[in-house]
Amino acid sequence: MRLGLKADSLLERVADWFNLAPQPLAHAFFGMMASRTLMAGARLGLYGALAEEGSATSEALASRLGLSPEGTRSLLEALVACEAVERQRDGRYRLAPRSKRWLDPRSSRYVGAFLEFNYAQWDWWTGLEGVVRSGQAVDIHDFAPEDPRWRDYIHAMHQLARLAAPEVAAAIPLPRGARHLLDLGGAHGWYAAELCLRHRGLRATVLDLEGSARVGRGIIAAAGLSHLVGHREGDILGADLGGPYDGVLLFQVMHHLSPAQNVALLRRIRSALAPKGTLAVLEYLRGDIEDPASSAPLIGLHYFVTSGAAAYTPAEVEGFLDDAGYRIESSRPIRHLPLQTLLIARLD
Ligand SMILES: C[S@@+](CC[C@H](N)C(=O)[O-])C[C@H]1O[C@@H](n2cnc3c(N)ncnc32)[C@H](O)[C@@H]1O
Repeated sequence: MRLGLKADSLLERVADWFNLAPQPLAHAFFGMMASRTLMAGARLGLYGALAEEGSATSEALASRLGLSPEGTRSLLEALVACEAVERQRDGRYRLAPRSKRWLDPRSSRYVGAFLEFNYAQWDWWTGLEGVVRSGQAVDIHDFAPEDPRWRDYIHAMHQLARLAAPEVAAAIPLPRGARHLLDLGGAHGWYAAELCLRHRGLRATVLDLEGSARVGRGIIAAAGLSHLVGHREGDILGADLGGPYDGVLLFQVMHHLSPAQNVALLRRIRSALAPKGTLAVLEYLRGDIEDPASSAPLIGLHYFVTSGAAAYTPAEVEGFLDDAGYRIESSRPIRHLPLQTLLIARLD
């Protein structure tokens, strides 16, 4: 992003070097503006309109979308600064070539649902000070099943899963002739579906909370995959897991749970896993918190705000698996899902 944090002129760079300009203010002010600008581009339909038109003047876009001409021009210019949109020599705007795959709603890599979900995340973060004062998280999994935030949340997660599912599924070794897969907190069921498509005869059950399972069932049905993936509503912390399964997925769930809950859940998974079965864990593993460029402190705070839990280090996650009686077979970062690591574990 070309915004704010990088000084434009030599004089500004010198001022930055000598710490004459308030960097904390730059982060707070420009971070807020960039985030909301990119969100508004999705919600107001600018990306879709630009994708369909190829290129357009700001007046034509304003008229097509029922927006004010001044506001539209201003927003488009801000989107240029965010490198989402480009202004051509003739003054028309188009999606920036590098952003097209992410912002064209017709793209299989579109992430607009995540930008829409950011409105809910934005609201949760407005409560940050209260959460820190009281220690009481928002607990985004406590919403009523019909709450529309479930839809935004699970569609956002589905869009991320679409990016990574082929890479992740290819890296999960299931026993030969595998037939039964359990996806705990699987939501959209997209990873499970990808595995079923790769392993003839494999069928998956997603176990998730009602609000999530309702949305996930719709996603799987719309993709014509209901014969491969079924959804069961329930709390993974208490529900009977059934089994035996040839594979169990625990993807991006650990950071919502306390250490004790993780170990207890992993022990229950043990009893549900076939002796040669595969446990696959996909998780954000906290890097070196001392590294000033690390995303870990902010992601950790995000998890704390949204579920009262934490981003765990590789050693902590290894400890949970070890305590519950698993041996880690492999660990690899996922290229299509930055910051996520896939762990393959087996019964010890
Ligand atoms: C961050 S999403 C991950 C979704 C999916 N596994 C993925 O990797 O894209 C976390 C999921 O865990 C589910 N979840 C959280 N706590 C749960 C619980 N106690 N019982 C069942 N599901 C739970 C949420 O409803 C949500 O679908």
